Amino acid sequence: MKGTVMSGMRPSGRLHIGHLSVLQNWVNLQKEYRCFFMIADWHALTTAFDETGAIKENIQDMFLDWLSVGLDPERSAVFVQSHVKEHAELHLLLSMTTPVSWLERCPTYKEQISEMGKEGKDISTYGFLGYPLLQAADILIYKADMVPVGKDQLPHLELCREVARRFNYLYNVKLLPEPQALLASVPVVPGIDGRKMSKSYNNYIALTDSTKDIQKKTRMMITDPARIRKDDPGHPEVCTVFVYQRLFNPEEAPEIEEQCRQGRIGCVACKARLAQRLDEVLAPSRDRREELAARPGVVQDMLWAGAARARETAARTVAEVREAMQI
Ligand code: TRP
Ligand code: SF4
Repeated sequence: MKGTVMSGMRPSGRLHIGHLSVLQNWVNLQKEYRCFFMIADWHALTTAFDETGAIKENIQDMFLDWLSVGLDPERSAVFVQSHVKEHAELHLLLSMTTPVSWLERCPTYKEQISEMGKEGKDISTYGFLGYPLLQAADILIYKADMVPVGKDQLPHLELCREVARRFNYLYNVKLLPEPQALLASVPVVPGIDGRKMSKSYNNYIALTDSTKDIQKKTRMMITDPARIRKDDPGHPEVCTVFVYQRLFNPEEAPEIEEQCRQGRIGCVACKARLAQRLDEVLAPSRDRREELAARPGVVQDMLWAGAARARETAARTVAEVREAMQI
């Protein structure tokens, strides 16, 4: 039997080119595994409980982006966490067997509380403490073998494994398998200003950006500051445009690198070539997204169907868990 893959993202709204390789990885996994891809809206609540107004729209936007890059609801269960209430039941049941100290020692816990504290926000809630346990429930409810995640999520995966082990031990069953993290090498795409690409810095190129947006944003990108005139020799290794050329235009990058070092290509021309290439990369998903966005009813039906499909497996696991716990 082929293995089961489960992963999720908090609904952050429209995605950007920094997310592309993670999504591409998911799209490829669909071909070989039984996949569950989830929009973690309850997880969003753990930090945004006081500003919930944008969550619905963010779910829609992210779902459309997922579909437009090729997540296929025919092959995979693609759904919203809060539509499958069994996650909440499993979270509750597992909370009975999970020591509070395991949650408090998660590195993300104290870090985030202090990060958010600096912005004057107190997230030392019961819900936020339970963040990694809710994530464990998300994974264990599908008995996932593999969880594609970034490095930052490894402590959560480790907790998930411990929770599964303890459950199986306490109730003398082999019910919940311990999942493995699937760490893909995800290239870091810097923002157009060279800092980390992020919504809050407004330095991102969205998957939905138009040809004009892309041209404008690439023109704004930081280049080698030592280049004043077009024929000055350049240093692609310090240039954000070149990072993009390597990632999104790998075929032409070696030639551009040489031309830059020899002062044979100007930054304006180099950026224009990048803009054209980025536009080619994004055009297919942009078109598909537009088609989907014109049919909101169909998109909503896809979400309900995804939840129904996920629920089949989720409900079965929760029934088994109840039985193991004799309730
Ligand atoms: N915590 C994950 C993140 O911030 C999102 C997430 C929620 C998740 N549930 C999950 C990831 C289950 C993998 C599996 O990225
Ligand atoms: Fe960067 Fe291209 Fe200019 Fe070289 S030519 S410095 S790679 S933008």
